[in-house]
This record gives sequence, C-alpha cells and structure tokens, in this order.
Amino acid sequence: MAVVVTNLDHLVKKIDPARYQDRVEKIDKMIREGTGAGSDFLGWVDHPVNYDKEELALIKEKAQYVRDNYEALVVCGIGGSYLGARAAIEAINGVFNHDKVEMIWLGMNLDPCYLSQVLDYLKTKKFAVNVISKSGTTTETAIAFRLVKDLLEKRDGKEAARKAIFATTDKEKGALLTLAKKEGYTTFVLPSNIGGRFSVQTAVGLFPIACAGIDPQEILEGSAEARLDAMEKDIMKNEAYKYAVARHIIYAREHKNVEFFITYGPNVRQLSEWWKQLYGESEGKDGKSLLPSSATFTTDLHSLGQYIQDGSSVFFETVLHFVNHRHDVTIGHDDDNLDGLNYLEGKTVSYVQEKAYEGTLAAHSIDGHRSNIVLDVEKMSAHNLGYLFYFFEIACAMSAYLNGVNPFDQPGVEVYKKNMFHLLGKPGF
Ligand code: PA5
Repeated sequence: MAVVVTNLDHLVKKIDPARYQDRVEKIDKMIREGTGAGSDFLGWVDHPVNYDKEELALIKEKAQYVRDNYEALVVCGIGGSYLGARAAIEAINGVFNHDKVEMIWLGMNLDPCYLSQVLDYLKTKKFAVNVISKSGTTTETAIAFRLVKDLLEKRDGKEAARKAIFATTDKEKGALLTLAKKEGYTTFVLPSNIGGRFSVQTAVGLFPIACAGIDPQEILEGSAEARLDAMEKDIMKNEAYKYAVARHIIYAREHKNVEFFITYGPNVRQLSEWWKQLYGESEGKDGKSLLPSSATFTTDLHSLGQYIQDGSSVFFETVLHFVNHRHDVTIGHDDDNLDGLNYLEGKTVSYVQEKAYEGTLAAHSIDGHRSNIVLDVEKMSAHNLGYLFYFFEIACAMSAYLNGVNPFDQPGVEVYKKNMFHLLGKPGF
C-alpha cells in the first residue's frame, strides 16, 4: 500500500478526477518550472532531497545537547513558525508522554494569563529556548522571546543564556538575525524561498522535533518519498493530486464551501491546526476557496456530530484514517458487568474505534448525504508523517492554482497588524 491512499468511495456524487488530467499536468509543470504566481517560494518542492546536510548534522548535535542538559524546550513562534513542529511532536510522542524534554509553546498569542503562567512555571525549570521567526519582527513571538530571554539572563547569567538560546530565522536579513549575531546564539536557517507554512521540513520544524527525541531524518525521508510519488503523471495514481482535484470539484461543482478535516484522537489534533493554516493561508484570498475547518472524533461526535449529521449541508469531510495503531489497550472482564461491557471483553480499543469510524462514515455519507474523502494511512510514524506533510503541501499548491489563487502569499494577514501597530503607536504606523 502507498503511504497515503485517497479513497473516493464515500462521496455522495461520483466524480471523475481523470477529467482534470491536462490541467493538472500543466499546473504541475508550472510548479516544477517555477512559472506560476508566487514562484519565489517554491524551495519546499525539492527541499526533502536538497536540504543542507551540514545543517541537519548541526540540528542533531545541538538537539542532543538540549536533551542532555535541559528539562524543557521553550519554542517561541507563531503560525508556520510553530504549528508543524507541534503537530509532529504531539503526533509522534503523544500528548501524554514520558519524554525527558518537556515542550512548551510560547509566542503564538498575546494572552497575558498564558504568558505570565508560563513564565512563572519556567522559573524553576532548566530550560532552553528556540526562537523561530523568518521576519524576526512578529510581535507575539518577539514579546515572548524578550520575556524568556530576560528571565534566563537574570536567573542564569548572560553566558548560560547564550548557550541555551537557539534562533531559527532568515539567513541574510531581519531583526532576529541581527540580535542572534550580536548575542552569539547558534542559528538555524529558514531558506528565503520557503514560506512559514511550508517550512516544517526545515530547521523550523526539525530542530524542535529533534529536541523531542524524534529523528528528523525520518521526517525528511518520508517527505522525499512523497515527493517521488507526487511526480506520478497519471492523476488517478497520484494520491496527492487526486485529493487536490477531488476537493476542488466538490468546491467548484458541488458548491460546498467548508472542508471538515476529521482526525481521530487528541495526538493528531495539532496536525489539523497545521493543515488549517496551510490551506487557509494559502487558498483563502480573492473572495474564494474552501473554509478549512476541523473536528476530532469521536470526541466531537458528541458536540459537532449533531450538526455534521443533520445541519446545513455546506460542507464535506476529509477523514484521516490510520489503519494500524502503535499502541493499544485490551478491554478486560468484569464479573458484575454492571456497565454492560462484557460483550467487548478481549477486544482492543483500536477495534472499538475502527467500528466507530465505520459507523460514522456510513452515518454521514449514506444517511446524512455528506461526501467523505478518506485518506487511508497505514500507521503513524515519523516517516509517514513526513510523507503526510509533503502530501498536503503539494496538494495545497495544486489546489490553489486550480482555484486561480497564488498559494504562497498572505496579504490578508497584514491588515490586523497595521491596525494594531497604529493603535500601539509603533513608529511608522
Ligand atoms: O506561514 C506563514 O508565512 C506565517 O504563518 C508565518 O509563519 C507567521 O506569520 C510567522 O512569521 P515569522 O516567521 O516571520 O515570525
């Protein structure tokens, strides 16, 4: 089985992605030759094979240093500068885990309660910091970093802080690069031709991932395999492009405006957040595109489940379905059977979840008339996650171009910033 299989058997109306063969071939050529809108940001296409091998060695070395010397890693970043790393670490290590390095996410909000509680918590922890910002001027990240840097320097001294801080930013320019050089921090590079939301396979994602004890090479190898598979010309055998075309047809021809990305379980909840940013920021422009939304089953079957089954039919679902699981639990016997569960004695929780998945798929697609695209994945692993990252990235580029938008800019994000800077009295605004 390919790592990801796009299963179109659960759509309400049958579709024929093969009709898009010529258009997809033209767009694919445009992506690979860099002739489309936003082509300055296509560095991610070949990055899984072209990455800087020396930097990967440095990432591994410094990550080992963090694992040997610190109890926690504070990752300061927002949007594409943290979502991929968090998605990967939670998907692989789990939300509850015994890893020796605790991951703490900061710089992705302006919530005074969250910030002050994290700073308070850090006072007694031996922590390192990875500040990640391509521009180096993102307000949320810069404020959080100023605060943790100050905490570290005052508590442990300047030299210890210097050793504990790692900066990931542009190679040539930006406020963070200037600061990192002045302070003598170890720096990692976000290549200038890769945008934040396409950067999880660079140091942006790989350094925190390695600090969490996950082999970054496996992520890259998975992405490299997806890159090869995405070169398949026949669209019906190209699972990423099949997904891109299917969601485009359901949007453009069936006029569904929302795509619910469905995952099962809290460990992959952050993968949905990464996916939402990738598609929302890449496609949501010029008054067009699907609204990327998400739900975590079976949890949300007890909340949004009602709406999905029975509410307005503005959406379709894309279900990320893992065929096998790395951990499992067997349900035991109880003599009294007061909970009535003895009929499941000896069965695993993965078996029960699979039946919930099958029952839900039928309920939503047959009874509820909701189209479901199912993405079958053999199981979660660092390799397969690397595959999924690339799969969604290349599908996103294809989907945005099919929709006539530039996948690689985000002009809408600037509007709130301008207003906020003006209200804060930032010079020049
Ligand atoms: O994907 C993107 O381009 C954005 O989400 C950015 O990653 C985010 O705004 C953070 O920007 P920066 O890395 O410059 O701090």
